[in-house]
Amino acid sequence: MVNTSVKIGKLTLRNPVMTGSGTFGFGSEMSEALDLSALGACVVKSTSREPRLGNPTPRIIETSSGILNAIGLQNGGIDNFIEEKLPFLRQYDVPIIVNLVGYEVADYVYLAERLTEAGGVHALEINISCPNVKHGCDFAVDPKLTFELITALRKATDLTLITKLSPNVTDVVSVGRAAADAGSDALSLINTLLGTAIDIRKRKFRLANVTGGLSGPAIKPIALRMVWQVHQALPNIPLVGMGGIVTANDAIEFLLAGATAVAVGTATFINPTAAIDVANGIEKFLAEQGIDDVNELIGAVTR
Ligand SMILES: Cc1cc2nc3c(=O)[nH]c(=O)nc-3n(C[C@H](O)[C@H](O)[C@H](O)COP(=O)(O)O)c2cc1C
Repeated sequence: MVNTSVKIGKLTLRNPVMTGSGTFGFGSEMSEALDLSALGACVVKSTSREPRLGNPTPRIIETSSGILNAIGLQNGGIDNFIEEKLPFLRQYDVPIIVNLVGYEVADYVYLAERLTEAGGVHALEINISCPNVKHGCDFAVDPKLTFELITALRKATDLTLITKLSPNVTDVVSVGRAAADAGSDALSLINTLLGTAIDIRKRKFRLANVTGGLSGPAIKPIALRMVWQVHQALPNIPLVGMGGIVTANDAIEFLLAGATAVAVGTATFINPTAAIDVANGIEKFLAEQGIDDVNELIGAVTR
């Protein structure tokens, strides 16, 4: 029997494949297409203190090299999540990771406390890196602010904390180190890369927000490089790698670069069962290669 389970902080995943926040809704949207219990973990859309309407449309467009989105963190707020979304997710035998977003430290702490009290949430992914809202990246570009935020969250909850890093920085390692030093159990990387696109006939930006986050296979080499860099510098903290993963082979590259787990995002829009297909493909690869434990792959390219 091949072992596919991995550990992220206090969390044990049956396989290393999660969903990318914002690309899988709150689980119920996808539950007809696949069995949520077959996922390593279900990461839900960013949740904020108050409901958010998001940005004006058009806010998601396809380019020749990936999609650009500027959704702007639309969600129903924490009360709605706890009352309406969480009971649905609790029916499944799958770790639930809630992605949090706020304007200031107090917002994140409030959300962490509410979700810890609510029960049935296994980990919090701290989104310090959304490029599509005002001040969305303030924390992620400043190691000092990241340290302050994660320190406050560490005091507020015993839940596994995963800090989600931005690629829109010069030195991703320093922000990752600040989060780790402050007590984050894991890091996830990467969020989208800031980009834009122009309609040449209308002479107008294609997104109402002008800029958006680029995702999909175009960003995979960048994401992979960042995972490898952070793993080299901080070998003891588990990483969740994401950015352009479409197939099991993509995911295995991330594991070899140092990720303990991976998340599938944009690929889900093309193939709703992409995350499960990736998990099955990893298992098949291990069997074919005669590897009896997926953990043997983690960081193997650096050894
Ligand atoms: C439409 C869309 C919405 C997203 N919303 C969120 C979000 O709410 N919170 C978050 O942390 N990341 C969000 N992301 C980023 C993804 O979780 C992921 O980090 C990124 O897309 C890179 O992975 P991919 O190339 O596999 O999509 C979103 C991405 C897309 C495409």
